[in-house]
Amino acid sequence: MTPIPFAKPLTDSREQQAVQSVLESGQFVHGPKTEEFEKQFAQRVGTQYAVALSSCTAALHLSLMQLGISQGDKVIVPAMTHVATAHAVSLCQATPLFVDVSPLSGNINTHILETLNDPSIKAIIPVHYLGLPCDMEVISHIASLKNWHIIEDCALALDASFHEQNVGTFGIAGCFSFYPTKHITSIEGGMLTTNDPEFAEKIRKARAFGYDKSLNERKTPGLYNIKSLGLNCRMDEVRAAVGLVQLEKLDAFQQTRNVNFSILKKGLQHISNIHSFPNTLGKSLSSHYCFNIVIPDSSPREPIMNALKEAGIGFSVHYPQALPLSEYYQKKYQHKIEDFPVAHWLAHHSISLPVGPHLRPNDPEYIVQTLTPILERTSP
Ligand SMILES: Cc1ncc(COP(=O)(O)O)c(C=O)c1O
Repeated sequence: MTPIPFAKPLTDSREQQAVQSVLESGQFVHGPKTEEFEKQFAQRVGTQYAVALSSCTAALHLSLMQLGISQGDKVIVPAMTHVATAHAVSLCQATPLFVDVSPLSGNINTHILETLNDPSIKAIIPVHYLGLPCDMEVISHIASLKNWHIIEDCALALDASFHEQNVGTFGIAGCFSFYPTKHITSIEGGMLTTNDPEFAEKIRKARAFGYDKSLNERKTPGLYNIKSLGLNCRMDEVRAAVGLVQLEKLDAFQQTRNVNFSILKKGLQHISNIHSFPNTLGKSLSSHYCFNIVIPDSSPREPIMNALKEAGIGFSVHYPQALPLSEYYQKKYQHKIEDFPVAHWLAHHSISLPVGPHLRPNDPEYIVQTLTPILERTSP
């Protein structure tokens, strides 16, 4: 059996030709591919603007910077997320205020949000865990009452929707990732979506050192001024060209993901004691990043992982610890396990299984057949 990776970028001669044509053009940055990728991505998500960046982390960081988040401010972050969500806050010298997640969805627990009244909270970063959207109705309501900005972390949620509205359209910014394991890739890369023209312009300036004029806007080459702080987080033309081809393939990719997800769900859901996150919940419709199972407290996870390794089935863990309990954040803020029981439980009991379009037609059934006896042994 050829091993099944957890995720694998799918590219062919179309991406190769796209890369080749950029290399031949000699225009590697500030070019038409990036602009076109931004235009098409904004259309796909349903926002007025999209700004291409070097990563989702850059999108999160620049968003917070442009909102003026700084020392003394707090930003709400779910306890179960990738470190990028919290590091973006820390890079602004602000404090990530970690909130535990719901056992039903892995998304931020909105009941806890209602109790938070600290005036130093300036923003919230809802993370759509494994592609299932947070309850954006409740979050938007609480955020508007409490005057918090919303920056959505959509790294794993491209094409997910809440009440038929795509994620990435609910707050001041939506932040997407094109890292090779994601729904589409631009090798490395990210995109920020927004409906606010001024905010979009600020992000454009901040992604390129804070120049007042981009290369194409300069009347005289080399002459510009610096009006604000910025970084170098641009997306280059090669990546944008790859991203454009991938965007054309997204519908087909998603169809396969949905089918693979359904086969795993149907095949494994009868096993008692195994919890799996739904692909729809209330008004949320998942983008099917993976199929996640949560094994019972009484069963160790290692034997299941070892059996998967032996069978050549790739898997992942999202995420390896409740983020406030990772060494960096635990030492900094002395967080305790009992403050994040659900995130801690997920970190130690969940396994993410592959559903991506890289799976061959028989792979989902093979995963079900392999896992069923192993998981049945963990049930009473
Ligand atoms: C929820 C979440 N946010 C942000 C990121 C960071 O994305 P990038 O690698 O594009 O910076 C990741 C990476 O997987 C993620 O899972």
